[in-house]
Amino acid sequence: MKKINIVCLGGSMEQKSSTLAVLKYASASLKELGAEVYVSDIRTLELPVFSYKALRSLRNRKFTELVKKIKNADGFIFASPEYHGSVSSAFKNVIDYLEVLSKETPPYLSLKPVGCIALGGAENAGYATLSAMISIVHNLRGVAAPNSLAIGYGSSLFDNKGNLKSEVIIKRVNRLSDELFLLAKRLKD
Ligand SMILES: Cc1cc2nc3c(=O)[nH]c(=O)nc-3n(C[C@H](O)[C@H](O)[C@H](O)COP(=O)(O)O)c2cc1C
Repeated sequence: MKKINIVCLGGSMEQKSSTLAVLKYASASLKELGAEVYVSDIRTLELPVFSYKALRSLRNRKFTELVKKIKNADGFIFASPEYHGSVSSAFKNVIDYLEVLSKETPPYLSLKPVGCIALGGAENAGYATLSAMISIVHNLRGVAAPNSLAIGYGSSLFDNKGNLKSEVIIKRVNRLSDELFLLAKRLKD
């Protein structure tokens, strides 16, 4: 079987990011399925606010590596916290830098599956952000995975060792990982 390469992109600018922790859980779940996984924590990319000028003058080893991994990927997991009812500006800024893929053939993430995870602090949070993420995926010509999920109560989902403790969320993230792996396999052929 051909190796399935997945890029997990997300997190927040906080040192202890619950979004990044959920993303890492999804990445471990994908590794268990046999995928080759690359995790990109947006905080460590240290990208300036996007402009064409900033893109042209960018000398950023981590971003160059991320772009290389994205070009070679069969699927993605995106994870953003909910900030004022949408994706965080830091997450969106990294997405804007994917403009670097606009001249690829095919462009951007064409026909590659993307699982989206939106994490909010309130009880019933994340749905508006999830909807924004799905719109972003479609604008990048990707295919949003149907089991993409909105998660509420962000920071209280973990035990004091930082492990995801909610059985319901674990089940839903596993379901998304299973689906993404299958979609990546099918769309690669
Ligand atoms: C600037 C800001 C805006 C936020 N806006 C919302 C919001 O609109 N809805 C919500 O449910 N949570 C909101 N939150 C809470 C975060 O989504 C939540 O704490 C999330 O888990 C943070 O992710 P992180 O731990 O990865 O940084 C906001 C937090 C910040 C810092």
